[in-house]
Amino acid sequence: MEKEIKNLKETFLKEIEKAKGGSCLEKIRIKYLGRKSQITNLFSQIPSLPREERGSWGKQLNILKNLIAEKIDQKTSQAPRQEEEIDLTYPAVSPKKGSRHILSSVTKEICLIFKDLGFDVIEGSEIEDQWHNFTALNIPPEHPSQDAFDTFYLDFPTQDEKSGKILLRSHTSPSQIRIMRQVEPPLAVLSPGRVYRPDVVDATHSFMFYQIEGFAVGEDISFAGLKGVLFYFARQFFSKDVRLRFRPHFFPFTEPSAEVDVSCFVCATKKGKKKKCGVCKGKGWLEILGCGMIHPNVLKACGIDSKKYQGFAFGMGIDRIVMQKYQIKDIRLFYENDLNFLEQFPI
Ligand code: DAH
Repeated sequence: MEKEIKNLKETFLKEIEKAKGGSCLEKIRIKYLGRKSQITNLFSQIPSLPREERGSWGKQLNILKNLIAEKIDQKTSQAPRQEEEIDLTYPAVSPKKGSRHILSSVTKEICLIFKDLGFDVIEGSEIEDQWHNFTALNIPPEHPSQDAFDTFYLDFPTQDEKSGKILLRSHTSPSQIRIMRQVEPPLAVLSPGRVYRPDVVDATHSFMFYQIEGFAVGEDISFAGLKGVLFYFARQFFSKDVRLRFRPHFFPFTEPSAEVDVSCFVCATKKGKKKKCGVCKGKGWLEILGCGMIHPNVLKACGIDSKKYQGFAFGMGIDRIVMQKYQIKDIRLFYENDLNFLEQFPI
């Protein structure tokens, strides 16, 4: 064993002395330290040696092994970069290409459909006050949505008594107020953005999600116009033969109000519904938005003469529409930044 260690050390030192480039050093590393190297072989012989000698041979082999590793490292760091080592024909590592998030691309798609109808796109403010988020929208102080369980209140000083507390907007409807107070009718506006609610996060709820608000104000705005606009949107966005269903509903800021369903684009577009459809759960309809004629109190709060002007408004949750359209079962997927999920929508 002693002789073998000595010879191994000598041949290694000679070889490393002569070695030049990186590929050569790599070969030496494999030869002297690899799984099939002589040193590995010597280590494997230790168990067959007399018990009292094992410790000392093990120690010597370890010293040699460390010496070899150290010398190779030393030489590697000194070795001049040699041109032959760089293979210019090797494919380069290209940077990962980013793409628009599915929620952003669907928002854009929806905005473009409404732009064709003459709507402008104007974003509102994510930090709001009670007056814009509730009062001006005809939502009374006792309404449950004003409760701290349903709205995130911020610890900012109130600006004045009329504005009330500062909060993260719980819907995009306050955009209506901001815009109507600044721009004279006639107007047709689409306002997308984030909204916040202190909901417990699960497959269908998130504390932050996306909505799109739409509204139009003018002297000849009617419910029939609202239906026409929404029908145009649904045909462009879902499918050419989609049907719409308006169900009477209550919203404080619109009167009359309705919730709108689209016929299920998976099973109910042509031949009636299917019992086992996973998208509409066999109902044949999918709820997509709330809408109605803007309440006269809302127009008044914006300084608009409600005798001269009427308006319609609608609001939809983008997350839900994307989940329906792409059959995504869990809202959390939008916000976890998992590239395996996001890369499925390379738009
Ligand atoms: N703001 C409502 C919500 O967050 C959605 C909504 C319903 C908006 C009816 C509207 C509307 O403009 O007319 O649930």
